[in-house]
Amino acid sequence: PLQAVIALATGYLLGSIPFGLLLTRAAGFGDVRSIGSGNIGATNVLRTGNKKLAALTLLLDALKGTAAVVLARYIAPDAALFAGLGAFLGHLYPAWLGFKGGKGVATYLGVLIALWWPGALIFAVFWLGTAFLTRISSLSALVAAVAVPASIFIAGHPKIGTLLVFMSLIVFIKHRPNIGRILSGTETRIGSKG
Ligand code: G3P
Repeated sequence: PLQAVIALATGYLLGSIPFGLLLTRAAGFGDVRSIGSGNIGATNVLRTGNKKLAALTLLLDALKGTAAVVLARYIAPDAALFAGLGAFLGHLYPAWLGFKGGKGVATYLGVLIALWWPGALIFAVFWLGTAFLTRISSLSALVAAVAVPASIFIAGHPKIGTLLVFMSLIVFIKHRPNIGRILSGTETRIGSKG
């Protein structure tokens, strides 16, 4: 239990680094929370018009999830799932930003890469497929968040599957405003500034 708590806390610290906010500010675009959806994730960083900055946000927000799991696996293998959960929660609820963080999609993917990499491929296929058809980032994430836990259970990894069901639920909760916009047909398309 002590190892689990330490893994959760270390993961949380890593996950709570708000790369989107830091990078956008460093690049001179000001506070990303005053742009578009107000989110600190890559999709909203893209609304600055700077693709490289958005790609870097996606990469680093994913990597912190991967790093948390990989690090824990070396030190305390049994606690790896807790480190992943910690990183995910850290991204969504960072203490430094009054617990108002991102929507968790990139970090979800990063954790998944480390826990069960085929799941990351499944994520990518569903995300890209939905994005190709609809050009809506949030909808693509929601579709992937359903497909991933289902595949993990089918592949026979119930522990990882249970964690990913929980993470997907939180992704859905965090996307409530997006779901409203999708249903009313007003959600922003990838590539438009919104
Ligand atoms: O990754 C977050 C994405 O699913 C939605 O972002 O900025 O359109 O709310 P945003």
